[in-house]
Amino acid sequence: MCGIFAYTGSSGKDASKILLDGLVSLEYRGYDSAGIFTPESGSVKTPGAVAELKKKVPKKFNGKSGIAHLRWATHGEPTEVNAHPHSDGSGELWIVHNGIIENFKELKDKLTKKGHTFRSSTDTEVLAHLVEEYLKTEKNFEKAALAALNDVRGTYGIALQYKGEPDKIIAARMGSPIVLGLGDGEHFIASDPSPILPHTKKVVFLEDGDVAIITPDGHTIQKLDSSSVKRETTEIDWSAEEVQKGGYQHFMLKEIMEGPEVIENTLRGRLIAQTGMAKLGGLEAVAEELSQIERIIIVACGSAHIAGLIGEYMIEEFAGIPVEVEHASEFRYRSPVLNQRTALIAISQSGETLDTLEAVREGKRRGALTLGIVNAVGSTIARETDAGVYNHAGPEVSVASTKALISELVALTLLTIFLGRQRGMSEKTAQEIALALKELPNKVQHILGSSKEIEKLATKYASMRDFIFIGRKYNYPVAFEGALKLKEISYIHAEGYGAGEMKHGPIAMIDENFPTFAIVPKDSVYEKNVSNIHEIKARKGPVIALATEGDNEIAKLADDVIYVPQTLEMLSPILNVVPLQLFAYYFAREKGLNPDRPRNLAKSVTVE
Ligand code: AGP
Repeated sequence: MCGIFAYTGSSGKDASKILLDGLVSLEYRGYDSAGIFTPESGSVKTPGAVAELKKKVPKKFNGKSGIAHLRWATHGEPTEVNAHPHSDGSGELWIVHNGIIENFKELKDKLTKKGHTFRSSTDTEVLAHLVEEYLKTEKNFEKAALAALNDVRGTYGIALQYKGEPDKIIAARMGSPIVLGLGDGEHFIASDPSPILPHTKKVVFLEDGDVAIITPDGHTIQKLDSSSVKRETTEIDWSAEEVQKGGYQHFMLKEIMEGPEVIENTLRGRLIAQTGMAKLGGLEAVAEELSQIERIIIVACGSAHIAGLIGEYMIEEFAGIPVEVEHASEFRYRSPVLNQRTALIAISQSGETLDTLEAVREGKRRGALTLGIVNAVGSTIARETDAGVYNHAGPEVSVASTKALISELVALTLLTIFLGRQRGMSEKTAQEIALALKELPNKVQHILGSSKEIEKLATKYASMRDFIFIGRKYNYPVAFEGALKLKEISYIHAEGYGAGEMKHGPIAMIDENFPTFAIVPKDSVYEKNVSNIHEIKARKGPVIALATEGDNEIAKLADDVIYVPQTLEMLSPILNVVPLQLFAYYFAREKGLNPDRPRNLAKSVTVE
C-alpha cells in the first residue's frame, strides 16, 4: 500500500520540510519510490525511500503547500518515471494516489485520441490528464476533479493540486483510506493520521465517495454527485507508532490479522473460477517453456522454504511434475544437475535474501528457467529471475513472516492450477480448487475470531521450555512453520517433525514437560495422526491438537484443541498456519518479548 501526505498553510511554514518529515512516518506502509511537489518549486521523485528523496531535494526547494507520496508498487516497476506525484500534460495539475484504477486503459485510450501523451505506465498519471481534459470545459478545478472522478472505476485515495489555485488541495476517497488534519491556519491530507499527529490531533476520516477540499483556513466535503456532506471531527489520542500498527500492539499481530485481505489481494484478477483457470500475467512470456518443464526445484529460506515444501505436494499431486525443495543456502554448494527442462522457483518475501539470490544465479548458470514468487516489486530476485508472480501481500514489517507465507501458499496454488491445466488437470478439479480458494478469506477470518482462546493457550503453556510440532503430508511442513515461529520470537527450543518419525527417535523426549502440537485435520492421514496422539498420551506428554471443526473425538484425546474450518487437504496449510502464528505471537508476548524485533534476527538476510 502507498502513503499519501499533503499540506496547505498560511503561516509561512516550509511545506516541503513538513511533507518530507511526514513521509518518514509513512514508510512502514512500504516504499520502493518517493516523491514531492510544491507549486513554488515543482516536483522531485526517486526510487527508494525518503532518505533518497531528501538527498535529491534541492536546498532552495520550498512552498506554502504541496503533496508527497511513498509508493509500494503493485503495477509498474519502481522507477523515477513511475514514482508519484504525476502531472497532466500542462504541468499545472499534480496528483498522488493510493489504489488501483481498473478502467485506466480505457480512459488512457480516450485521452490519447484527444492528443494526450503519457510519460509513465501508471494508472495515476491518466487521472491527472482526465482532470486536465475536464478543466478545458468546466473551467473550474473542483468541478473538473469531480467530473473526472465520476469516470473512474476502481479504488483510490488521492490528493490533487492545481498550480492555478496553489493553496487549495482536493482529496478523494474510494476504497483507500484518506484522513484530513485540521490545524490552525493549516490543513493536511494523509493516508493515515501518523504524519498529521505531530501537528494536530483533530482529524476527519473521509468515507468512500467523499471528495474534500482543504485550504489553510478550512475544509469542505462533498459526494461525487456534488451534494455537500459533513463528517465528524475526531480527536486522536494515539501515537504515530500506534497508528502505523493499526491499533494492534505489534506489527506481527496486525499482519496476521491482515490474512483475509492478503488472500483476496493475491487472488485478485488471477482466478477465473468459471473455467478453473489461473491468469498469471508474469508467466505469460514463459508459458510455452513452462508447458515443457519436466522438473522443478524450489529454492528459498525460512518460512519461504516451508511454503515451497507445501508447494511440492501441490504441484506433484495436481500437475504431475517432480519437485525438489532445497534450502537456498545448501543448494548453492551442491552440484545440481539442471537443464532447460528444469524450472528453478525462488520464493522470497523481500526478494533480497542473498542465499536465495545466489541460488537463482546458480540455476541460471546451469541453464534452468528461473521464476520468482516475490512480494517486493522490483527487488533483486524479482529482477534477476526470468519471470514470476508477485504476492501483492503489501509490506511485511515484522521480522517473523506471517501474511507473506499465506500469500506464497496462495500463489503456489495458482501456479499449481496454471501448470496443472497445461498438463491435463480437469476443469472440474480446477474449479473445485478455485471455489475453495475463494472461501479461504472468510475461513481465515473465522479463525482470527478465536484469537482469544489461542491467547489463553499460550498463557497456559508459557512456562514450557520445549515444544515439538508434528504433522503429515501437506501439514508436515506446517509443523516446521509452527516451530520456526515459536523459536524465532520466543527463543525456546521447538522442533517440527513428520508425525511418522516420532517413533524413530523424538518420542524419547516426551514427558509431562514436553508438549506436542499435533496438526491433525480430518484428511487422508487423520487416523495415523490420531495414533501418534495415543502414543504421546501414553507417555504423559501434553498434546495441543489443531483439528477440524466438528471433530469431537479429538477433544477426548488431546489436552487442548484449536479448531479450524474444513477445506481441501491441499489448502489446509493456509488455515493451519494461522493459529500457529497466533500461538507463537501470544507466547512471546506472554514472556515479555517484542515479537516484531526478535534478538539476532533481521527482516531481510542480505548476508551469507
Ligand atoms: C520467517 O519468519 C523468518 N523471518 C525468515 O526465516 C524468513 O522467512 C527468511 O529469512 C526468508 O526471507 P525472504 O522470504 O524475504 O527471502
